[in-house]
Amino acid sequence: MTGKILVTGGTGYIGSHTVVELQEAGYDVIVVDDLSNSGIDVLDNIAKISGTKPAFSKINLADGVKTDNFFSRHHDIVAIIHFAASKAVGESVQIPLHYYRNNLVSTMNLLDCQLKYGIANIVFSSSCTVYGQPDKLPVTESTPRKDAESPYGNTKRVIEDILRDAIHAYPQLRGIALRYFNPIGAHPSALIGELPLGVPQNLVPFITQTAAGIRNELKVFGSDYDTPDGSAIRDYINVVDLAKAHVIAIERLLHNRNKEGFEVFNLGTGNGSTVLEIVRGFEKATGVKLNYKIVDRRPGDIEKIWADTTYANEELGWKARIGLEETLLSAWNWEKRIRGIGD
Ligand code: UD1
Repeated sequence: MTGKILVTGGTGYIGSHTVVELQEAGYDVIVVDDLSNSGIDVLDNIAKISGTKPAFSKINLADGVKTDNFFSRHHDIVAIIHFAASKAVGESVQIPLHYYRNNLVSTMNLLDCQLKYGIANIVFSSSCTVYGQPDKLPVTESTPRKDAESPYGNTKRVIEDILRDAIHAYPQLRGIALRYFNPIGAHPSALIGELPLGVPQNLVPFITQTAAGIRNELKVFGSDYDTPDGSAIRDYINVVDLAKAHVIAIERLLHNRNKEGFEVFNLGTGNGSTVLEIVRGFEKATGVKLNYKIVDRRPGDIEKIWADTTYANEELGWKARIGLEETLLSAWNWEKRIRGIGD
């Protein structure tokens, strides 16, 4: 294989799983991360799984000079997978300028360097948050996007627009935006996984921390949604399944199989689960009883969303394969390993 794949945010949650899948598919990977929300030890754990420690540079990509300097020293990069971004929804409401600067400027710096150093291909980590609460379910790639609920969500939407416009203006560029539904779970080795800073905002890390005794109880936000049990519905996708889709997207670009300069794919399972189904699924998969309480809705939450995955299935030949209980068990095995909890 000639040429390297640059993974920005490669020590983060989805990034680290993608590095492993790329390496296992035979790619040579370079990771760039500013380590603002992840640790350098992730690289050793990647090496334990794949046998290879990826090359690494600690850079904040919003720093244009450092980013240019990085690319001026690496002439063998053929494609970029861009995960690096600030991602806490609530925090983005408090410090929006930081979110816009960090997420948008870093992407524009990457695009500048792609043009300057002749790197054609970029895969971008977008989110189903760009759909808001859709009028029709499940959502296809042509479901209209809605105004974002948060500055974080807006950065995903605006970056998609920046990529589309840049690729239109500079046809030597090609890109794929992958709209993730709700990524959960961890690598089956339990060596890499999700490590939220402080109190987790996302459901599954809160569940595993509650099961580990770090949190007293899980709050289930909302019981009066128009769903079978009143709790909200999401499409929870295993992070390893998700990571594999990035390898396919890279191959599509490298082998010129893309149909348009800029393409968008939904990455979900195609199935919605309620919060209470996740709670019960976790208990069943792990045998651990969860202490939970039903409380009011969380402001800003949507009622229900799940993906129509037909386009990804047919065009990418990709499908989520790992079941929900196995995925929830993997999240628990990861939590147990990092907390030193035995069986
Ligand atoms: C959120 C973001 C999304 C982001 C994703 C991953 C919004 C609108 N969306 O998705 O853009 O990409 O996180 O970081 O903020 N829940 C509980 N109790 C908890 C935590 C969550 O009941 O302690 C419920 C939520 O109300 C929701 C479901 O679990 O119904 C999933 O929540 P979460 O994991 O935070 O993801 P989203 O809000 O779907």
